[in-house]
Amino acid sequence: MSTPRYDVDAIRAQFPILSEPVRGGRLAYLDNAATTQKPDAVLAAIDDYYRHKNANVHRAVHDLAERATTAYEGARDRIARWFHAAREQIVFTRGTTEAINLVAYSFLRPRLQPGDEVLLTGMEHHSNIVPWQLVAREKGARVVAAPVLDDGSLDFDGWTALLNERTRFIAVVHVSNSLGTVNPIDRMIAAAKARGIPVLVDGAQSIAHLAIDFPALGADFLTCSAHKAYGPTGFGCLVGRREHLDAMPPWHGGGDMIRTVSFEESTWNEAPYRFEAGTPDMAGAVGFAAALDWIESVGLDAIAAHEHRLLVEGTALLADIPGLRMIGTAKNKGGVMSFVMTVGHAQDIGTILDQYGVAVRTGHHCTMPLMARFGVPATVRASLAAYNNRDDLDQLAMALRKASRLLA
Ligand code: ALA
Repeated sequence: MSTPRYDVDAIRAQFPILSEPVRGGRLAYLDNAATTQKPDAVLAAIDDYYRHKNANVHRAVHDLAERATTAYEGARDRIARWFHAAREQIVFTRGTTEAINLVAYSFLRPRLQPGDEVLLTGMEHHSNIVPWQLVAREKGARVVAAPVLDDGSLDFDGWTALLNERTRFIAVVHVSNSLGTVNPIDRMIAAAKARGIPVLVDGAQSIAHLAIDFPALGADFLTCSAHKAYGPTGFGCLVGRREHLDAMPPWHGGGDMIRTVSFEESTWNEAPYRFEAGTPDMAGAVGFAAALDWIESVGLDAIAAHEHRLLVEGTALLADIPGLRMIGTAKNKGGVMSFVMTVGHAQDIGTILDQYGVAVRTGHHCTMPLMARFGVPATVRASLAAYNNRDDLDQLAMALRKASRLLA
């Protein structure tokens, strides 16, 4: 049976913003690791929610309240299915950052003792460093980071060597936002399990590119953000093992997270509601569910194969640009091309690229320790999504040549 052709033109046609002129010309949107654009199906689902279903959830018996609750809890079912998890395992958050903070404060903080260690890798995003530092500092514990090899992959032996009886928790990014490196999370989780150490996987950069079966993976927690997977901003979730979530204390107080309240004492709702204080982002949940439906309609494997083809082509095009050095050349790598150029600072290159309609991110990508590891203050980062095509890569290469000439 032949595989159906990947029709990138048909996919592009579903993303209205891709036809938006920028600087008076064609947009080559290559800043997908920062945030992806949204297809019509997601925009329509959010619009439909506000036009036909909006009310507060879990709080009233009127028709609209029922519609809103059904839409919101239906989204939870959809998202749970994506990760092969149960609905009770899905805690809605504002995104990955809030989900990591929730685990740091509610799960780890009560367990942490002076002298304990939280093991990270040298390629973590600030959101997977700072929350652990905050609780570690308070408890007299410390954060340690495993080394990164010259190609941007994890020094697995170096990471293993840091596992010891003081290691209380492990957090690891699945796919590096700065370099695209895919970490060997299966091996890492197996090593952690053998020592009974809980693991959090930061899936912010992976869920739109790699399939994740949460129970099969064996991690204790997984975090993600809808906006990096064609969904709305300000929404995401924590996927957790039930025994952890059931035992974790609340961390934000307010409506919906309680069972009873009196001035003397309050009691808590069950997980996941215990962690969802206040009126939630119903449209965010609906939009995220629609985004996952959209990915499924195209096929996650087909998207990943398309992005990989573009990564290979893009890497070859960039190799021909004089003075360009790719940072991050790991064998197992997602659709990220991070580089520096001898002609100038990443910021100046990004500014020139923008004049030619090429949207990339420049800077430290919220991974200052990783930049320090490679001895650079910043990189230019082009990152791929389902709708990118060869024209985007050619536009990037053309603009880089212009930048080389202008800055030389
Ligand atoms: N984490 C996002 C990025 O890598 C914001 O750009």
